[in-house]
Formats: sequence, structure tokens, C-alpha cells
Amino acid sequence: MWALPVLPGASAEDPVLLGPGADEASQALDVDLLAAAEALGATGKVGEVLLVPVSGRADLVLLVGVGEADATSLRRAGAALARATKDRDAVVTTLAALGDEDGLEAFVVGTVLGSFEFHWRSQGPKARPVGRVVLADVGGDQDDESYDAALARGLAVGRAAWRSRALATVPSNLKNPEWMAEQARQLADEAGLEVRVWDEAQLAEEGFGGILAVGAASATPPRLVRLDYAPAGATASTPTVALVGKGITFDTGGLDIKPPDSMLTMKRDMSGSAAVLATMGALAEVGCPVRVVGLLPLAENAVSGSAMRPGDVITHFGGRTSEVNNTDAEGRLVLADAMAYAVAEVDPDVLVDVATLTGAMKVALGLHTAGYFATDDALATQVERAARASGENVWRMPLAAEYQERTASKIADVDNAAGGPGAITAALFLQPFAGGKPWVHVDFASVAEAVADRHELTAGPTGFGARLLLSWLGSETPLEGVK
Ligand code: BES
Ligand code: MN
Ligand code: ZN
Repeated sequence: MWALPVLPGASAEDPVLLGPGADEASQALDVDLLAAAEALGATGKVGEVLLVPVSGRADLVLLVGVGEADATSLRRAGAALARATKDRDAVVTTLAALGDEDGLEAFVVGTVLGSFEFHWRSQGPKARPVGRVVLADVGGDQDDESYDAALARGLAVGRAAWRSRALATVPSNLKNPEWMAEQARQLADEAGLEVRVWDEAQLAEEGFGGILAVGAASATPPRLVRLDYAPAGATASTPTVALVGKGITFDTGGLDIKPPDSMLTMKRDMSGSAAVLATMGALAEVGCPVRVVGLLPLAENAVSGSAMRPGDVITHFGGRTSEVNNTDAEGRLVLADAMAYAVAEVDPDVLVDVATLTGAMKVALGLHTAGYFATDDALATQVERAARASGENVWRMPLAAEYQERTASKIADVDNAAGGPGAITAALFLQPFAGGKPWVHVDFASVAEAVADRHELTAGPTGFGARLLLSWLGSETPLEGVK
């Protein structure tokens, strides 16, 4: 099968234009593909896919809308192409020929993610990804090496995002803290990273009170995972980024139990740790120039006689205490331990946490944008750039000091359920655990689930975060301007 690009035309007389390869295909097939596109009512809008029946073959030519053919459009067109070619052996396409290196990378990421399938069906998957995508004409007379690198990068980022999404999609009867730790060991082995896993006894010995309290009710005990990446040629002066990902393998809410509708999707409350894990695995491939330490605090927030109770006071790693006024505000309790550990033991130049932290973020930003908080404007600029480049949208939220006093507890250092504005008070809860380090907190509860297939997302868990982090950490100067 061939897939050719269609662009919006300049006027009513020329409603569409066909991209590279169309003239050659028209000649070879002896058919006027432009006339066919017009007859089919093509508009060239991104995501439009039209099948052109030629030479008695109903499945030979696909016309794929590419809109402005910028990187975002090519990512979406790639996903549309992948969906339209499922179950096929191969497709040859000139779509990526319309873009520069960034366009090629985005197209590849879109094609990989548009192919996403996850199933546990006894009879096999509903559909299989297209077997082979052949990119024709890419790079023109440009330097081929830069296009090869962009292709490799697109594949690395696409695979990482797929991995993150797949981990989030695994059901929680299979996915518990130890299962996640095992995924981390395997990934570390594949990617050549150092890995350490704390079991519940080691967590107790070292004082990880938040992770232990949240995991106390579960039949599958909590874990903490640490992964270490160093770029080739790293020296003592190579800076370090610490990434912390919320890893609640199922969130029932605990004794403050969730209603059924809210609990239904909580197998993916470990999406933050999935994003960090997937990112760690691809750092070398995107040429990350800084050291990165990934931390995954993993626990199941369950219900049983050994569950933490409303009103309990817990002592986090390093000694700060929290009063647990809502057992469903568990994410911040595990993040606090991991952040305090990072500050004390890793001493990073920058600390970032990613978490499906608050339902309030959905109210604040809707379902297509994640919120982030930053203590450093240069770091915020980096996040914004990475969001634009990767297609994972973010919006900056305020660490509004006006609400700090709401997080006060009568008997402990901090209250875990300070009330509204919920996304902001959650961030303010976490802020002291960053120990004054330049810090970014990404709360992506708003975009952790796609309600329907849309662009490169497939209905279900999105695996959000890996693309954003890789775009940031795979840039030449991820810490530029950070104080
Ligand atoms: N995992 C949830 C947040 C969440 C909600 C993620 C919806 C994705 C979709 C988190 O642990 C939680 O339950 N947060 C509470 C906090 C509250 C009790 C202070 C919430 O947002 O309601
Ligand atoms: Mn919760
Ligand atoms: Zn949660």
C-alpha cells in the first residue's frame, strides 16, 4: 500500500495539493490522483485518510491529510496513517518527506503511537500494527546523517512512550509494586543502568514512613526503585537531575474509599513511575548530556485491617511528619519520601516529580493539558519548550503562597488533605520536600486517560510524561539558565 500526503490548497479552484510522490504515483498507475482526491472531497486536514481505488485494486493508495505539515501535524498524520494501515504487511509513504528532522522525528513518534495495541484476549489482538513502514524521499539532498539520527530518536521516543502507556494499561491483579520493580530491573539490564530496589524491610530500616504507610494495607508490599544514568564521558562536574514518579499500582482511596466510578481507572495511578521508568530507558538513545537518577516509590493504596487511618501521623524519610487527614491523598505521601531521599542522598541540581496527583487538576485544566509548578523560571521555560516539541501539553500553575497556611496541621508538620484549590495545595504540600532545590512538579491527573482515540493517543491510559521528559533531557542544554 502507498500513502501520499494531501495538503489544503490555496483557493476554491484548488481545494487540495498533493505532496511528494503523487506525480510519480499518478504516472505509474495511470490515474489522476489529484482529480481523484477532489472527487473524494479531500480537504488536506490533518488526520483525514481517504482510500483511492485504482487499477481494480481497492487497497493500493491512501491519501493522508497533513495540514500545515509542521511537526505537530506530521505526528498526527503519522498516527492516522498507522491506524488506517493496521493489519497490513507494509506501507510505503512520502509523508515524512514534507518535514525537516523535527518533522521526521514527530512523524515516527506518531506512527509508533498510532499503532498502539494492548490486549489480554484469548484469541489474539483485535488488530496488529502495520508490519513495516517504508519512508520514501526523506531528507531530499540534505545531510542524510541528521535524518538517520532523527529517525533513531523518533523510534526511541516512540518506544518509550509506548512502554509508559503499556505499563499504565496493565491491570492491577498483575501489576503490583514488586512487579513494577521487576520491570525496572529488566529495563536497567537492557539499558545498562544501575538499579537498586528497597523491599519493605529495607524501607522500614531507612525510615520511608510515607511509602510504608500507604502500602500498609496491601497484600503486596511497597517498594522503592532507584535507577542511575550517566552520560558517556561524565565527570564529577556533570550535573544531576532527579526524577520522581508516583507509583501507586492501584488507588482504592484506602479507608477513605473512592466511589466505584472514581476507582475504575485507578490501575494507572502509577503512570508517573511508568513515565520515569520509560524515560530512564531511553536517555542514552536521545543523547541526554546530564546524569539522571530515577526514583519510583511504589505502593498499592488498599483497604484492610492494617491500613493507615484518617488522623494517623507518619514520619517521612528525613524526619518531616504528615497528618493523614485523607487516606486518598496518598500520592503526596509517597512522593514526599522519595523527594526527601533525593535531596539528601542524590543532591541533584534539579528535582522533578511527575504524578497523577489530584482530580482537581481536571477541573482546573480539562482533559488535554497537564499542570506543572516550577520554582525556577528558566526550568519552566525548558518545560514549555519540551511540551511544544513533544506534543505533551502543559500549563504553568502558581505555587500560591496565599494557600500555604491551609496545609498546616494542628499536630504535625503538614496536613495531607488541605482542601481547595486542590492541585495547588498538593503542590504546596510537596514544596518543602524539595529542600530548596530548583523543582518542577507535574500533575497530569488531567491527561492520564484518553477518553477516545485522538491524534497519537489511543483510548485508555496515555502514558503521559515520557515524551515530555525525553524532549527536555534529550536537548543539548537541559539545565541552561537554571539557578
Ligand atoms: N490518584 C488520585 C488522583 C486522580 C484522580 C488521578 C482522578 C487521576 C484521576 C489521588 O490519589 C487522589 O485520590 N487525590 C484526591 C486528593 C484529595 C483526597 C485531597 C483527589 O484528587 O480527590
Ligand atoms: Mn488517592
Ligand atoms: Zn492516587
